[in-house]
Amino acid sequence: MDIIKIIENKKNGLELTTEEIKYAVDGYLNGEVKDYQMSALLMAIVINNMSKRETFDLTKIMLDSGDKIDLSSIDGVVVDKHSTGGVGDKTTLILASLVASCGVSVAKMSGRGLGYTGGTIDKLESIGVKTEMTLDDFIKQVNDIKIAVVGQMGNLVPADKKIYALRDVTATVESIPLIASSIMSKKLASGADKIVIDLKVGNGALIKNIKDAKELASLMIEIGKDNDKEVVCIVSDMNQPLGNAIGNSLEVIESIEVLKNKGPKDVRELVISLASHMVSMAKNIELEEAKKEVIYNLKNNLAYEKFLSFVKAQGGNIDNIEVARKVFSIKSIKEGYITKINTSKLGEIVKLIGGGRVNKEDKINYKVGIVLNKKIGDYVKKDEELLKIYLEDKDMSIKEILNCFEIGSKKIETKLIKEIICQ
Ligand code: URA
Repeated sequence: MDIIKIIENKKNGLELTTEEIKYAVDGYLNGEVKDYQMSALLMAIVINNMSKRETFDLTKIMLDSGDKIDLSSIDGVVVDKHSTGGVGDKTTLILASLVASCGVSVAKMSGRGLGYTGGTIDKLESIGVKTEMTLDDFIKQVNDIKIAVVGQMGNLVPADKKIYALRDVTATVESIPLIASSIMSKKLASGADKIVIDLKVGNGALIKNIKDAKELASLMIEIGKDNDKEVVCIVSDMNQPLGNAIGNSLEVIESIEVLKNKGPKDVRELVISLASHMVSMAKNIELEEAKKEVIYNLKNNLAYEKFLSFVKAQGGNIDNIEVARKVFSIKSIKEGYITKINTSKLGEIVKLIGGGRVNKEDKINYKVGIVLNKKIGDYVKKDEELLKIYLEDKDMSIKEILNCFEIGSKKIETKLIKEIICQ
């Protein structure tokens, strides 16, 4: 087979055969297909799209490129949750314990921060939770206390790892079939029986509009069906950060608030929705019944107690969460309603003050971040606080922060959960 012919076929809008996709992916992984050839093929895919059949094939070929985690020795149905990534997205910290407190096995592999979005593993490490363990220990902990959250184990989907890194630097991330196959190949390799996906849409997310979100959700659900896995997609708003806190320690503090049945309304709403679907799928019960159990466990501290036992089991400690001591109040220079927040820019600011990695090898400063005092639809007076910024050794221009907010005369209504898409 000839990679140049394969690129040419896609360039001319033809459907690639299973063999052609396999040749390109396997060849790229073993070095026969070069970066520049894969880049050209990816760009042709971005422009000319992939059929459903091509996307199913690409997912399977990437899935088969590495290890698959066998979770069959875990008691009961294992339900996994995946977020497509956003700013202030701390749902996993809360959700995993909440779902486990309902008696559902949570065997979760999570990632680190990427770009301007934060990652669960960094947040857990900020309270000393150890996120590496053997597969046997991982399964044992889930069977003992219903929950374990670790970083990626084994050599899962190496083809996606290599292709994703190339997409990141060749402007070829934004393709619905490429995103769907990338996410689903990893989820299928992680061994869960059922999957709930929190698909973020908005100016702080990879997917900017609801039409693309729905198309991506339907495609991921169909890939799940093709692999005998039930998938539910919850499309949620990322036109502003989730909750008020952005930054590792600050987000852990906010998560604990929600686990204690307090905290911001939007985080609570999303967590309750995601948890209800996970519990309903795992226990095969009606959604309303699952929701009652979830709310009961939040109200009665059962989710919080589960969180404490999970943190203890993995060597962490919430008693000494530290936040930066240099705290500045950023005040509005205008009066009116908040009409728009540049979410990715706020995420970028937290990254630049040390809360994320600018280079892969950078060490994160867990203590820095932002806590919003105003969100979209809120009224702000001149000189009233918009947010607090927690700094250590790096500074940030006030003008740049203020530029993240648009203030107008009309109150904007927002809706957090935009769609729930099931099979
Ligand atoms: N997240 C992934 O894992 N893959 C993509 O392609 C996009 C977001």
